[in-house]
Amino acid sequence: KTNTLTTLITKQDILPVYKPRKPFSHKGTYGHALLIGGSYGKIGAVQLASRATLVSGAGLVTAFVPKCGYLPLQSSVPELMLITDTNDTCISNIAIPIEPTVIGIGVGMGTSEETASAFTDFLNQNTKPLVIDADGLNLLAKTPALMEKLPKYSVLTPHAKELERLIGKWSNDFDKLDKAINLSEKYNIILVLKGRFTLIVYKKNLYINATGNPGLATGGTGDVLTGIITGLMAQQYEPLEAAIFGVYLHGKSADIAVQDFGYEAMTASRVISYLPKAFLDLF
Ligand code: APR
Ligand code: MG
Repeated sequence: KTNTLTTLITKQDILPVYKPRKPFSHKGTYGHALLIGGSYGKIGAVQLASRATLVSGAGLVTAFVPKCGYLPLQSSVPELMLITDTNDTCISNIAIPIEPTVIGIGVGMGTSEETASAFTDFLNQNTKPLVIDADGLNLLAKTPALMEKLPKYSVLTPHAKELERLIGKWSNDFDKLDKAINLSEKYNIILVLKGRFTLIVYKKNLYINATGNPGLATGGTGDVLTGIITGLMAQQYEPLEAAIFGVYLHGKSADIAVQDFGYEAMTASRVISYLPKAFLDLF
């Protein structure tokens, strides 16, 4: 009923989008990505996302986490820089003394009162491009007025439950699509509706991804996707391009990984370790 333009994403669509690295470039060329998230017991989400951001080619990656995240992240991801909240177990005040190119926010963040208020303050003063996932989406759904604060072209990456919290229950797939298109149009944002065939929605433009497999049905693979999209945006891919390319690469890594690990033994970490092969497949 709505006049949509639907595209199935293929390698032929990705090739012209891909920006190979230039010989005379340096880390400044590839941007500084900031990931904000984590809470006691969910620091791993930030670890996965930041490793994925690094492996996607961002020039520099910093994470902002509660204090309890400092030691595990500093010791497990040497390439990562860290800024810590004053609170030990959850984010309570987002103060960032750097100028990131892009910010990915929400993975493992929790939805405590303190974090909710820190998130509100953050959105009120933020001007940087955003990728929002997981508890960032849950907090948006709790206080819909915050949607007004999102910068144009923010990328939101809900799974089905998170989407339902944002747009309410849908009666069928057409209704779901209508509601998603409305949300994208109202706030001028990009929605990545994750699942077997992830659908990227930007206004009435729909992009269907066909890479990926049920090996991805394991905790943390969404955090990896957030990291990839954030890493691509750090490198000046347009947000819509980053969403499409990121979803494609994420699924492609899993498709290559499955040849070595099968479906059951695939983990989010293994998806990251196959990202190099997904990039190499573009040559
Ligand atoms: N086929 C293809 N892709 C799949 C399949 C499948 N059968 N199952 C899952 N995926 C992909 C999705 O498209 C998505 O990219 O795996 C990823 C899963 O992302 P999430 O659902 O966000 O899972 P997860 O990383 O575990 O989320 C971590 O954040 O969103 C919250 O509630 C979530 O606590 C959880 C945390
Ligand atoms: Mg998730």
